[in-house]
Formats: sequence, structure tokens, C-alpha cells
Amino acid sequence: MLIAQISDTHISEDDGFMERTYETAACLRRAVDHLIQLPVKPDLVMVTGDCVDTGTDWEYARFRELLQPLTMPVHVIPGNHDDRTRMRTVFGAQGAQAMDGFVQYVVDIDPLRLIALDTNIPGAPGGKLCAQRLDWLEARLAEVPDRPTVIFMHHPPFATGMKVMDGMGLADADAFGAVVARHPQIERVLAGHIHCTLQRRFHGTIAASCPSTATQIQLDLAHPERLSVSREGAACLLHSWSEETGLLTSVSEISGPRPVDILFDGEKWTV
Ligand SMILES: [Fe+2]
Repeated sequence: MLIAQISDTHISEDDGFMERTYETAACLRRAVDHLIQLPVKPDLVMVTGDCVDTGTDWEYARFRELLQPLTMPVHVIPGNHDDRTRMRTVFGAQGAQAMDGFVQYVVDIDPLRLIALDTNIPGAPGGKLCAQRLDWLEARLAEVPDRPTVIFMHHPPFATGMKVMDGMGLADADAFGAVVARHPQIERVLAGHIHCTLQRRFHGTIAASCPSTATQIQLDLAHPERLSVSREGAACLLHSWSEETGLLTSVSEISGPRPVDILFDGEKWTV
């Protein structure tokens, strides 16, 4: 079982800031090619928000068109740059047990349960889950307590130290954490939003964030007040599951194929 996660694709109109500055469509095209060429085909792709940059119909049409080469199921959740209503119009009701009014749903993909959460606050950069969305989450977790579960959401539920990003973080992370703590089957909480890979312990599980396909935010420990981005280092996260290994998360660079040195060929060391 292999779940691929891409994030923060930020598709914008041709004259939009993101496309003019970062060529986000070309970046997504490269990410899609990367997923297609993986040695093991992902069973599902999840896009963890900021799919488009300003939420227009044109952007969603373009975003969907760029994903077309992917033949496996592709699911999306909204980020702060997305428009929940337009996203629902373009992608319809996704998964099962879709929640009214939000883009929250379940995908049971044996043996895992994936739960997509909607942290969007219309017009605001920060995120929130609210009591209504958390109650729905609690019910989805309680009904299948023995199935390894992965939660996807846009805003990470933890502080990063980066002042700008923490100023647009998840408002009710503690309330979310209280729900997570009651359900030990949660293998991961996986987010986007901060355009880099960070991971930390979170109420009995592991929370991690996915890089962007387009622009990477640099974790500048010396200058937490700054926000710096780079066009280098586009990557996705690959979450693989087997009975033997449990859920493993690896970072898969999108920057293009590179030579691979086989150190052990299955029978002997080659160096
Ligand atoms: Fe973003």
C-alpha cells in the first residue's frame, strides 16, 4: 500500500503572481511525472491544500487538467488559499461519509483508514477545525478503532518557530490534540501549509508536514522573524504500509531523476 502526498501546488492564472514568479503549473507537471515514474505506483494521491492560489474557477480547471495523467484516485482538501465551495463543485463529494458544508471525508483503503479534514476559514490565512468538525472527526475515529488511521489536513497542528507561519497556524490545535489523544490507532497527522518537511510528536502520534511542489520555505533558526522561500527542493511524501513495516514515511525529491548506486544487489555488496 502506497499513499503519495503532494501539497501547496498553488496553481494560479497565467498572469497571477505565483505563476509569473514560480511557474507553478510546470512544477505540478513535474510532480505528476514524478509520481507516474515511481518504481511502485501509488494506490492513491492526496493533495493537502493550497491546490490553487486565489480560488477561481479557471485555477481549479487548470489544476484538475494538470492532474489528469494520474490514473489512481486523487483526493484533495482545502488550504487557506482554496475556495471550499468551488473545490466541492469541481471535485464533487469525495470519499465516503462526506460532511455537509465542509470538505471532510473518509477513504477506507484496506487496511488503512484515511481521514481528510478541512481547516479552511474563508478569507483568512489561519486554520480552524471548530467543534462541529472535531465532533465529526471523533465519530469517524470511534467507529473503526482498530484500523490504522492517517489524518490529512492543511494547517499543521504545531508551532514551527517561524513567526509568520505561526501567525497563520491552526487556532484550535489543543482541542484537536485532545481528540487525537483518545484514539491510539492514528498513525500520522499529515499536513501542508508550511512548504517544508517538519515532524514532531503530537498527542501519542507523529505529526508531519509535506513540502510544496513549487516553493520551499526555509526554516531559518537564526532569524525566526524572517520568511524566506526557495525554488529548490520540491518533494512529495510517500507513506508506505505493510504488515512487516507498519507505516513508513519517506521524502521523495521531485527535482528530476538522479543516478542511483546499488550498494547491495540482493545477494552481495557491490562496494
Ligand atoms: Fe501554501
